Amino acid sequence: MATNTGLPSFTIRAITPSETHNLRHRVLWPHKPLSYVQLDEDDQGHHFGVFLEDPSPLLPPHLQQQQEQQEEGEKDSSSIPTEPVSIISLFFAGDEANSKKEARFRKFATDPPWQGRGVGSALLRYAIVFAVTEGAESVWCDARTSALGFYQRFGLDAEGEEFFKGMCRI
Ligand SMILES: CC(C)(COP(=O)(O)OP(=O)(O)OC[C@H]1O[C@@H](n2cnc3c(N)ncnc32)[C@H](O)[C@@H]1OP(=O)(O)O)[C@@H](O)C(=O)NCCC(=O)NCCS
Repeated sequence: MATNTGLPSFTIRAITPSETHNLRHRVLWPHKPLSYVQLDEDDQGHHFGVFLEDPSPLLPPHLQQQQEQQEEGEKDSSSIPTEPVSIISLFFAGDEANSKKEARFRKFATDPPWQGRGVGSALLRYAIVFAVTEGAESVWCDARTSALGFYQRFGLDAEGEEFFKGMCRI
């Protein structure tokens, strides 16, 4: 678990695969069925999410409505969903000597209202540190070209033209 010092105030923690599916679907593949973002290999992965400590000033409409209802005493506070605002999934591969030699991150997404606020960078940094701590010697991803600029800030090298594959040697 990690907590940042700036704004917005958030916490990063491990989550279950099913906690990633809603955001994966909404941000990455909204036009596909939900099953499209439910990976067969999810159970073998490590999943992390960013949780805002006080999301109320910037809650998306559907959550704002729920909070208003709660304030009116219509709902118990435990009914407010605590959804991550940013998610990432990490999958290891390797050989006999080191089964976690290579780490691949996938399905990285930040909820649009919170994009550009630093939570994605914090989450990617957290995932890379986790991977290295587990023994990874390289970290890579298949990235959308629209996110190339973001990954370049992390020293990830682009490979290929139409399709971007980033690899960070560490
Ligand atoms: C890519 C993504 C996960 C980054 O998360 P985020 O929470 O927005 O990232 P941050 O707020 O930490 O961004 C840090 C910086 O990178 C910049 N940045 C964010 N996304 C960027 C992008 N796609 N291209 C270039 N720069 C980007 C931000 O503007 C910010 O710049 P600043 O420090 O000068 O203000 C998020 O933008 C997203 O969900 N995008 C849509 C889905 C997607 O493309 N996912 C990646 C699939 S490979």
